[in-house]
Amino acid sequence: MKNPAIEYMDKRYLNKSTPGKLYKFWGNKTVQLLRFKILSEIDDLTNKSVLDVGCGLGEFYYFCKEKGVNFSEYVGIDINPKIVKQANDKFPELRISCLDVLEIPRDIMDDTLEKNRFDYIIASGLFNFECANWDERTWLIIEECYKISKLGVAINFLRFRQEERRPIAHYTRYRDILEVVERLTNRYVLRCDYKKNDFTVYLYKKQLR
Ligand SMILES: C[S@@+](CC[C@H](N)C(=O)[O-])C[C@H]1O[C@@H](n2cnc3c(N)ncnc32)[C@H](O)[C@@H]1O
Repeated sequence: MKNPAIEYMDKRYLNKSTPGKLYKFWGNKTVQLLRFKILSEIDDLTNKSVLDVGCGLGEFYYFCKEKGVNFSEYVGIDINPKIVKQANDKFPELRISCLDVLEIPRDIMDDTLEKNRFDYIIASGLFNFECANWDERTWLIIEECYKISKLGVAINFLRFRQEERRPIAHYTRYRDILEVVERLTNRYVLRCDYKKNDFTVYLYKKQLR
């Protein structure tokens, strides 16, 4: 079955991106960097281990490195084999594997992504594409990421607004996400303070009393 996220990324970005150059992957570098900045503010990520799901070229890693934040470990996974190849060719120092995030449960069993190995799980743009069963799939991914993280999860979404209508994109109401988040933890932060068509949620493992 064709995956719309893979098809869209191949057509829209891979052909026009500048391999090996940072932040040329997306149309708008400023917005990409802003999203990375907000995700990175979940905590001081220095010496933390990070799993980046839907990592693209692994640019979140370079963003943090440029800001002087060095992780103890960085692993990226992405479903798109061409993106993973481009990332591995150009940035061989990063560990980026081709994997569907929905396969995480199986890989936990194989110990590749063993439970509690990563302090934080980051997902930037992972939920931006419309697909069959978007809700069900998204809830499942959030739950799995939360389960396997040691300290927490940071994820962003395109924010629902009446005027936005790109058929490939999925726009999300944050109250729908918070409903799922509240089933997992009572310690979370909603960031709607940086861009009108985007929001980010931090979920923490440590519960509030
Ligand atoms: C909008 S891009 C964001 C890339 C990167 N995180 C960034 O912000 O630069 C979303 C990425 O998620 C990947 N992706 C989509 N569904 C996925 C899945 N089920 N498992 C792993 N990666 C997925 C896509 O291939 C794509 O590279």
